[in-house]
Amino acid sequence: MISQVSGTLLSKQLARTIAIRARTTRTYCQISTGGVDQKEAWRDPHSISSSLDVQSSQAIIKRLESRGTDPIFTSLFDTYFPYVIENCDKALEIGAGTGVVCRALAESGFEGTVLGLDQSEQFIQAARDYASHLPNVNFSVVDARNLKTGVKSFGSDFDCLLMHTLISHVEDPLAVLREAREVVEQGADLIIVEGDYTGLSYHSATKPGLSESLSRALVTATFAQPGVVRDLPALLRQSGWSLNRASGKCVSEIGDEFSYWKSFAQAYMPRVSGSGMISQEQVDEWWADQLEHVKQKQFFASCTYYTYFATAV
Ligand SMILES: C[S@@+](CC[C@H](N)C(=O)[O-])C[C@H]1O[C@@H](n2cnc3c(N)ncnc32)[C@H](O)[C@@H]1O
Repeated sequence: MISQVSGTLLSKQLARTIAIRARTTRTYCQISTGGVDQKEAWRDPHSISSSLDVQSSQAIIKRLESRGTDPIFTSLFDTYFPYVIENCDKALEIGAGTGVVCRALAESGFEGTVLGLDQSEQFIQAARDYASHLPNVNFSVVDARNLKTGVKSFGSDFDCLLMHTLISHVEDPLAVLREAREVVEQGADLIIVEGDYTGLSYHSATKPGLSESLSRALVTATFAQPGVVRDLPALLRQSGWSLNRASGKCVSEIGDEFSYWKSFAQAYMPRVSGSGMISQEQVDEWWADQLEHVKQKQFFASCTYYTYFATAV
C-alpha cells in the first residue's frame, strides 16, 4: 500500500518519465511503408489510424461504436444538433470515424445531407455499413490535412463543418483548421467538440499520486494534442474563423456510476503499460483501486468537454 507521501513521490517520478517519453515519442516517430513500426505504434492511435493493422482498427471501431451508445457521450450532441438541424443543409464531418455523429444527426431529424470523412479506410468501410439505411448520409476516405483535394468532387457549398473529438488527435491543428477554411465559402459554420484532457482526472482517495500519474499517462497515450481546446480561440482566429461562442460541459461519473470512464480506461490502459510509461504492475494496482472505489461508491472521474461555434470570415 502506498502512503499519500510516497504516492506523491511516486507521482513525481512517474510524471517525469511520462514527460520524457512523450517528448521522445514526438521526435522519433516515422511511419514505415510496411506499416507501423514499434515506437510509432504507441502514438495516439487515432492520429495514425490510416496505418493501423486490422486488429487495432477493429478494436477502435468497437470502442467508437460503444462510446456512441453511452448517454454521457450522446448528451454532447445536445450542445449543437439543434443548431445544425435548424440552420444547415449540407454538413461535413471531418474525422467521422465509424459515423456515430453523422448517423445520430440524421436520426435526430436533420433533413439535409451529411458527408463524413476519415483518413482510415477501415473506419469508413464500417461507417458505410452502419449507415446503409440512411440515404442522406455518405462517407469518403479523406485526410484532414489534405481536404482541398479530398472534397473537391463534393463541391464547396458545405454550410456546416463538424469536428467531434478530432482536433486533439491531429499533430498540427492549425494546419487542419486552415484546410477546413479553404473548403467552404464565407459565412459557413464550424462546430468543434473537444475535451480539455489536460484536466482529465481519475481520483483516488487512497492512492492519489498513483491515480494522478495514471490519469496523465492515459492522456499521453491517447491524445496527440491534449490541451488544444484551450488554444482554439487563438487558432481559430489565425485560420480564418471567427469565434461566436463556446461552452463547457463537465463529463463526470461519481459514486458507483462507472461506464464512460470505465470503457475509456479499459481501451487505453494497455497502451500505458505497453509503451513502458508505467509498469503493468502499477497499472493493475491502480485499476484494482479504482474498482474498489466503485464498489465503495467512492469513484470520481471527470473531464470538461467544450463546444465551439465559429464562422468562416
Ligand atoms: C476520437 S475519433 C472521433 C470519431 C467520431 N467523430 C466520433 O465522435 O465517433 C477521431 C477520429 O479522427 C480521425 N482522424 C485523425 N486524424 C485524422 C486526419 N488527419 N484526417 C482524417 N481523419 C483523422 C481518426 O481516424 C478517428 O476516426
